[in-house]
Amino acid sequence: MSTVTLTFENAIAFITINNPPINATSHSVRSGLVEALDQIDANGDIQAAILICEGKTFIAGADVSEFGQPPKAPLLPDVIMRLEATTKPIIAAIHGHALGGGLEVALGCHYRIADSKAKLGLPEVNLGLIPGAGGTIRLPRLIPITEAVAMITGGKPVTANKANEIGLLDAITHGALRDAARDFAQTILDRETPKPLLLRDPVTPPSAADWDDITAATKKKARGQTAPLAAISAIRTGIEQGADTGLAYERERFVELRDSDQSKALRHIFFAERSVAKLPELKGIEPNPLKQIGVIGGGIMGAGIATASLLASYNVTIIERDEDACANGRSTVEKHLSGSLKHGLINQHRVDALMAALSTSTDYAALANADLVIEAVFEDMAVKHDVFGKLAKHCKPDVVLASNTSYLDINEIAANCVNPNRVIGLHFFSPAHIMKLLEVVRTDKADAKSLATAFSFANALGKIAVPCGVCDGFVGNRIMSAYRKHCEYMLEDGALPHQIDAAMVEFGFPMGLFAMQDMAGLEISWATRKRLAPFRDPAERYVALGDYLCEMGRFGKKNGLGWYRYDENGKARPDPDIDALVIAESEKKGITRRDFTNTEIMDVILGAMRSEGDKILAEDIANNADAIDVVMINGYGFPRHKGGPMFMTAKED
Ligand code: NAI
Repeated sequence: MSTVTLTFENAIAFITINNPPINATSHSVRSGLVEALDQIDANGDIQAAILICEGKTFIAGADVSEFGQPPKAPLLPDVIMRLEATTKPIIAAIHGHALGGGLEVALGCHYRIADSKAKLGLPEVNLGLIPGAGGTIRLPRLIPITEAVAMITGGKPVTANKANEIGLLDAITHGALRDAARDFAQTILDRETPKPLLLRDPVTPPSAADWDDITAATKKKARGQTAPLAAISAIRTGIEQGADTGLAYERERFVELRDSDQSKALRHIFFAERSVAKLPELKGIEPNPLKQIGVIGGGIMGAGIATASLLASYNVTIIERDEDACANGRSTVEKHLSGSLKHGLINQHRVDALMAALSTSTDYAALANADLVIEAVFEDMAVKHDVFGKLAKHCKPDVVLASNTSYLDINEIAANCVNPNRVIGLHFFSPAHIMKLLEVVRTDKADAKSLATAFSFANALGKIAVPCGVCDGFVGNRIMSAYRKHCEYMLEDGALPHQIDAAMVEFGFPMGLFAMQDMAGLEISWATRKRLAPFRDPAERYVALGDYLCEMGRFGKKNGLGWYRYDENGKARPDPDIDALVIAESEKKGITRRDFTNTEIMDVILGAMRSEGDKILAEDIANNADAIDVVMINGYGFPRHKGGPMFMTAKED
């Protein structure tokens, strides 16, 4: 069946694309469009045309199966040129998503109308690319340049409302799109205004100083990514040197970026994220239906997990130790929801409804109907055992019980439970209602149903769920512990904390390891080290600097002193006292300090990540190297455009 059909209603033609699932710009769609346009031009009875899509969405991207194949004419830029040159006005009628090439097609139309729930965007930078079919040339001619820059360099789609506000749409409809588009077409015909031709529109160029500001701001946000800056060059070329030169330049940069390491890395992680939770062993297993979620502990993590669960429309019950702690948990959830309200993600009505779906109690009997319970109490095995004991008494037999522990052995927690096959780990990252990563820990006895339930819950929360096995720190914290150890060795061998952090930031991490530790608080890992001290191999090199800091009462940013000294505005400054402490420790151990370059520092860090990653794979803790990359990028600030530690180092093998 043809993917493009042409029908007529009086003087109006309907070009309908039907190429499931996303109406991609496949070859059949491109050639079908050209044929339809030829017919429309040749038909004297037709005065206007509407381009509309069947199914869930407008054109939402390219056809991935054509990636890597020789390009087959007609190419998308030429189809869009043909669209723009049609003698009759064409109206794009958008529902679902108009993304990438889809939005570029809509920009080639003369008018755009959208369903009020539609989203429009040019997400190419997320794959290390720029729009390659005129997006960087047409969009700045249609909407204010700052808005075009934000959409193209940020890669985030905008809502139909926003698109309407900035002039990307000519109209928005809350009713039936097809009818609204037909009415719109009639209005245009009645008005008899000449159809707008974007490419020929004059555009007021920003001054050189404005371009400098735009470039500087983009560079800062891009943190080492080349595509957003290439997009600025394309936009600027199109504005300063005219549309034809701009289009040729845009195409050239698109092709160059498509073959770049950054785009390969970003495509790698894009596909890794989509496949990481697809487990053949869970295929066909029905998850338990979930309605009520129990959360034990309303502290930092518990309140975040409760918020995330509420936002996914579950009823939530938090169990705390006393009424004050219940009130604290409740008010933290309220604070998180007000944050979402402030960012325009939800409205006050929804906040009220979500707060009404939250209950707190000190009595575990409140969990009698819970379908899934997530424990987030203190990181202490005795407390965890006590909690799971109570859960066994009060919860229904098919409840799934999860621990959010960072490091404790969940197999040991499960072993003490009546039904260990229903006990799993759900390791969230802080802040739990914002961070996308979730490690789903399969205990030795966990059954397929409990795991399937965990993945369906993760999916409902919009998380990227990475399956992992039980070990100290699972995937992410285990790799972090390993490279932290090597960073500490570097401190004794000659580097200073702020040098290591600077090397990491230059590499693309949002912050260095020591600044991150200061932010999280140093006492948590101190407690873990003390817990593990009896099991430590005395022959293994141990760096005590972190312990000294805690002994000196330097617990990190919250008390103004950690690896850094913090000024009254919370800004970190390297502290000469810490430099002296580090140097004295080397002397005490008889180590001759040497200089480290940033490259050497990163080589050590990447080497440590790789070698721990290999051990994790050998022990079957992660299913594959891609899963490790997904964890490090989504939970630990590893720069996305480098593809993850396993991808990066595999290339060098
Ligand atoms: P927290 O100290 O902020 O919160 C713990 C809460 O549990 C407190 O509100 C406390 O009153 C409550 N609690 C303690 N015993 C209880 C009991 N028997 N019954 C009911 N409530 C009880 O701690 P946080 O940071 O939220 O950590 C909780 C768990 O999450 C720990 O296992 C931790 O290792 C893990 N985790 C922490 C992360 C973090 O960044 N803070 C990240 C990922 C996991």
